[in-house]
Amino acid sequence: MNNLKLIGPFKQLLPMSGLPLKGALADEQLIVLENAGIIIDGEHITQIGNFNDLKLKFEDIEIHELKGDHTCVPGFVDAHTHICFGGTRANDYAMRNAGKTYLEIAKAGGGIWDTVTQTRKATKSALVKNTKKRANRHLKNGVTTLEVKSGYGLSIAEELKMLYAIQEANEAIPTDLIATCLAAHMLPKDFEGSAASYLENISTSLFPILKSEKLTNRIDAFIEESAFSASQITPYFEKAREMGFDITVHADQFSTSGSTVAVDFKAISADHLEVSTEKEIEALAKSDVIATALPGASIGLGCAFTPARRLLDAGGALAIASDHNPGSAPMGDLLTQAAILGAFEKLSNAEVLAGITFRAAAALNLKDRGTLETGMLADFSLFHTGNYQEILYNQGNLKPCVVFKRGSLVFDKHNSPPASKGGV
Ligand code: NIG
Ligand code: FE
Repeated sequence: MNNLKLIGPFKQLLPMSGLPLKGALADEQLIVLENAGIIIDGEHITQIGNFNDLKLKFEDIEIHELKGDHTCVPGFVDAHTHICFGGTRANDYAMRNAGKTYLEIAKAGGGIWDTVTQTRKATKSALVKNTKKRANRHLKNGVTTLEVKSGYGLSIAEELKMLYAIQEANEAIPTDLIATCLAAHMLPKDFEGSAASYLENISTSLFPILKSEKLTNRIDAFIEESAFSASQITPYFEKAREMGFDITVHADQFSTSGSTVAVDFKAISADHLEVSTEKEIEALAKSDVIATALPGASIGLGCAFTPARRLLDAGGALAIASDHNPGSAPMGDLLTQAAILGAFEKLSNAEVLAGITFRAAAALNLKDRGTLETGMLADFSLFHTGNYQEILYNQGNLKPCVVFKRGSLVFDKHNSPPASKGGV
């Protein structure tokens, strides 16, 4: 007996392969395999194809034969979250819905600074526990790779506490957590000095530790009136680029300028983009920067969606992420939010699914996931339906019944929830 496993048959399997990284997609471009199976070897896919053909071709293998109709899709990639935090901001949400704006609440002592205060009070082990719990909820919704930002510490020691917590959570759960340093989330209210000296301190003292402790290879900044300006961030990103970090930007959420910085610095992604105009859309579409829409923030703040349709029609690469955070995006349900964005922005099934699979993997600079093909990670979910269109049609209400991560069964609706790395 070798180590190969055959899983199937799936009424439909969407490999999400052979599609371009950029531009509009029609559903007719999707490959839909019928009565398919997957051969896996350890963490990776050996082959996909017709279940019966694979059964005949590979002898003496372990077979997981499924009953009923299932559709198999790549594990979802949520390329932008802030799930490592302490406390809640339920009061901010109530105040916003009573008429105050996000920026007014931030100025009055709520907003990001409130979560910084609550996160600083939390122990590292409390943060590990919360992060694991939230990631496991995402896993049950089919998210097998999840980016997690720091940015609620805003001092060297507190940012490190968050990043060590993310690292520890990553080691304890099946989901791959991709950490990002967002020490440039806002100028901390207790920092005695200018924005320039804060950023200089972070880049000189924290960046080398991020490298030596292997905490993250990604640097993010919030470019906004309430956070940092494009000119303040320029030397910070120059330092990050010099040290070989990947750059990502919170851009064009309330005012434009962030996406220009993203394009200039050849960032991996520019995220938010709710207020991007034709000029920013054109520049992003011409570049290799992935444009990441965050419908959860639009739903949480009650404001316009990212112009996803226009970005795609201009030739841009669109990823969709949940932005799960305690302030602007408390829901944390990628599939629901992606389906809603699709309905409002008139996106095809192919465009939405691409935005949460291989285009989202590209937003994290990950080349080993996002499609189901030979050599890729065996990360996939099964939905109890024989028609893939049902997944988005149900707007997140149809949940996966089975999730595989790196070749291991990590969630089975009929059994207990995931607890530790390497399977239930
Ligand atoms: O992506 N825009 C800035 N940062 C987060 C919000 C964080 C918060 O409000 O706590 C975002 O929406
Ligand atoms: Fe964010």
